[in-house]
Amino acid sequence: MSKKAQERIEELREKIRRHDHNYYVLAQPVISDQDYDFLMKELVKLEEENPDLVTPDSPTQRVGKDLTKEFRPVSHKIPMLSLSNTYDEEELIDFDRRVRENLPEGEWPEYVVEFKIDGASVSLNYVNGLLKTAATRGDGLTGEEITANVRTIRSVPLRLNVKKNTKYSLDDIEVRGEVFMKIKDFEKLNRERETAGEKLFANPRNSTAGTLKLQDPSLVAQRSLNLFVYSLISTEEELNSQYDNLQILRELGFNVNPEVHLCKSIAEVIDICRTLEGMRSSLDYEIDGAVIKVNSLWHQRIIGSIAKSPRWAVAFKFKAKQAFTRLNSIIWQVGRIGTLTPVAELQPVFLAGSTISRATLHNFDEILRKDIREGDKVVIEKGGDVIPKVVAVIMDERSPQSKPVKAPRLCPVCSSVLFKPEGEVAFYCENSECPAQVRGRLEHFSSRGAMDIEGLGTALINLFVKLGYLKIYPDIYELKSKRAELVKIERLGDKSIDNLLGSIEKSKEKPFHKVLFALGIRYVGSGAAKKLADHFGSIEALIAASAEEIEQVYEIGESISSSVRKFFSDEHNIHNIMKLKEHGLKFESQIVVSRNSFFDNRVFVITGTLSSLSREDASEKIMKLGGKVTSSVSKKTDYLIMGENPGSKFKKAESLGVKILTEEEFLKNLGEIN
Ligand code: IVH
Repeated sequence: MSKKAQERIEELREKIRRHDHNYYVLAQPVISDQDYDFLMKELVKLEEENPDLVTPDSPTQRVGKDLTKEFRPVSHKIPMLSLSNTYDEEELIDFDRRVRENLPEGEWPEYVVEFKIDGASVSLNYVNGLLKTAATRGDGLTGEEITANVRTIRSVPLRLNVKKNTKYSLDDIEVRGEVFMKIKDFEKLNRERETAGEKLFANPRNSTAGTLKLQDPSLVAQRSLNLFVYSLISTEEELNSQYDNLQILRELGFNVNPEVHLCKSIAEVIDICRTLEGMRSSLDYEIDGAVIKVNSLWHQRIIGSIAKSPRWAVAFKFKAKQAFTRLNSIIWQVGRIGTLTPVAELQPVFLAGSTISRATLHNFDEILRKDIREGDKVVIEKGGDVIPKVVAVIMDERSPQSKPVKAPRLCPVCSSVLFKPEGEVAFYCENSECPAQVRGRLEHFSSRGAMDIEGLGTALINLFVKLGYLKIYPDIYELKSKRAELVKIERLGDKSIDNLLGSIEKSKEKPFHKVLFALGIRYVGSGAAKKLADHFGSIEALIAASAEEIEQVYEIGESISSSVRKFFSDEHNIHNIMKLKEHGLKFESQIVVSRNSFFDNRVFVITGTLSSLSREDASEKIMKLGGKVTSSVSKKTDYLIMGENPGSKFKKAESLGVKILTEEEFLKNLGEIN
C-alpha cells in the first residue's frame, strides 16, 4: 500500500465531507455537481485499488449492500421522553409558573424555543467521533436499530468534525433529532407510487417512518431523507445549556434548524411561538408546533421528569390547518364489529402535506348537528390525528335543491336491517358474516399492533375473502395447505406466497397479549389486552373469569368486562380460539420472570401517587415477580401500597385489616433499595 495513496484518500474524504456539509447541511454548495462526482470517482477508484484502506466512515460507504433482516432492539441509555402538549397562551403561562415553582429561590429560567419537526425521532450514538448506532424511539426505552438506513442520510455525519479546541472531549455521545422528508420529496414519492400501483403514504411523517424501516438501504438512499438534530447528551461530561449544545452540534457538523430562540421570559416565548406559527406555510418541511425547553441543563435536572415526559419542556401545538372543498357524497363504511361510520367523499384538496379526498363524519347525530349535506361546500381540518374531519358547512353556498341526509336503514354491504341500540349514536350491522365485518376482523388480526403479518394487507385479504380462502382467523394458518392453488393466482406467484406463508408462521411467536388484542374483542384495545393478559395469565383463566373478577383489573371497567364476557359466551369464538391454539399461537403469558417469595401469588392494590415510579411500572414489576395487581380493595387483597395523597382505598383497607405498605417498604421488598 502506498503512502501517497493513503494521503490522497484522506484528502479526498475530507474534501467530500466538507462538500457534503456545504450541500446537505448549509444548502450552499461551492462546487459543481460534476466536480463533486470527479472527486467521488477518484476516491472510489483509489479504494478499489487499495481495499485495505477502506474504512466505514468513508463517504463511499454510506449505502451498505446487505439487507437488514431484522431490526435489532436497542435499549436507550437515557429514555427518549415525549413532550406534553399545550394549545394556548394560558397553558404556556401555567408551564412557566410550574417551572419557576420548582426552581430554588433567586433562580430565573431562560427558555429555548425551537420548531417541532413532524417526522420520526432517532437517537444516534457516536463513539470517538464515529457513528456507531442509530435507533428509532420505539417505546422510549427500547427502540430498533436502523444504523444501515440512517447512514444513507447525507446530512448525517459519519465522522464528526471534532475540533481540537472544543471544551468537551465528546468521546461517547448520544445525539437526538427528527428525520423528515421534505414536502416536495414526499409528493414525488407518492406520484411514483401511484404510477406503480402502490399504496400511497398519508403524509411526510408516515413516509419517513416507513422509509426508515425498509430492509434495503439502497432504497432508503433514493428517498431523500433529512435530519434536524435537537439534543446532545453525554453521560460523561457536564454540559451547560440547550442553547450551547445546539451550537456544539452545529460545529460537529450536524444539521441544526436555524430557528433557535433564546428567551428571557414567557412573554417572549409566546411572541416567538406566534412568529414561528406564521412561518409554517412558507417552509418546505412539516412542523406541527414549537418546543419550549428550559435552557440551563442544571435547571432541567432540578425540575426533573414525570413518567414519560420532562417537566422542563413542553410542545406548543399549532392550530390545525384548514381547507375548503366540496363534499361530493356520503358513504357508510362497515367496521369489524359492524359499526357504521359515515365518510365524506371530497373533491380532492391539498392540506398539511397531503391530498385529502375523504374525511370522517363520526356518526349520524354529528351530521344532523352540523347539518352536513351532499353537495355542500365544507371546511375540513387536520388536527393531531391523520384522519381529517369536516368541521363546518359554508351555508351561504348551499344549493337550494340540497336535502338533509337520511338515516341508513340497511347495511350497504350485506343489506341486512340495521340496529341502533338505545342511547347509542351508532348504527350496527348485526350480521357477523357480513363480508365487510369478515374483512375488517381479518385486517385487524393481521395488523401491525396485533399479529403483524407482513404482506397480509387490505388488498390480499379482500381477494382471499372473495375467493373463499379466508373467513375466520384460523383460516389464515391453514393457507399453507393451499400453497399449490395460491401460487397460481394472478400477480402472486411462488416468491410472494412463500414470503406471506413465512410471515404467517412467524406471527405464531407473538405473545399472548398481542393475540388477545388480535381477537378484536370490542373495547379491548392493545392496552387493555396487555392488562388482561398479565393479570389472568392464560386464555382459560380469562374465559373462566366473572365480570366482577375482570373489573378487579386495574383500569378495566364495566364496558370492557361485559364485552369480554359476551365474546366468550359465543361458541364460535371459543371454537376459533381452540383452533388457533392447535396451530400453536400463544394463549399464555410469560410475564413472570422470577417468582419471589414476598410477591408470588399475593394480590396488591396501589393507591395515591408513587414518587419514584408510575403505577404501570409498579404493576409490571409486581407481576414479573409472580404477584397480581387489582384495582379495588377486597377481602382477597393482601397488601395496599400507599403513595402520596391516598384515596378512599386506604380507609377500606384499614377497615378490612389489609396490610399497608409504604412506597419505601414496597421498594425494599422489590430489592431496589436497602
Ligand atoms: S425535544 C424530552 N425538540 O417531538 C425532550 N422534540 O413528543 C423530547 N420533536 O419524540 C424531545 N421536534 O420526536 C424535541 N425541536 C424538538 C423536536 C422534537 C420534534 C419530536 C420528537 C419527540 C416528540 C415529542
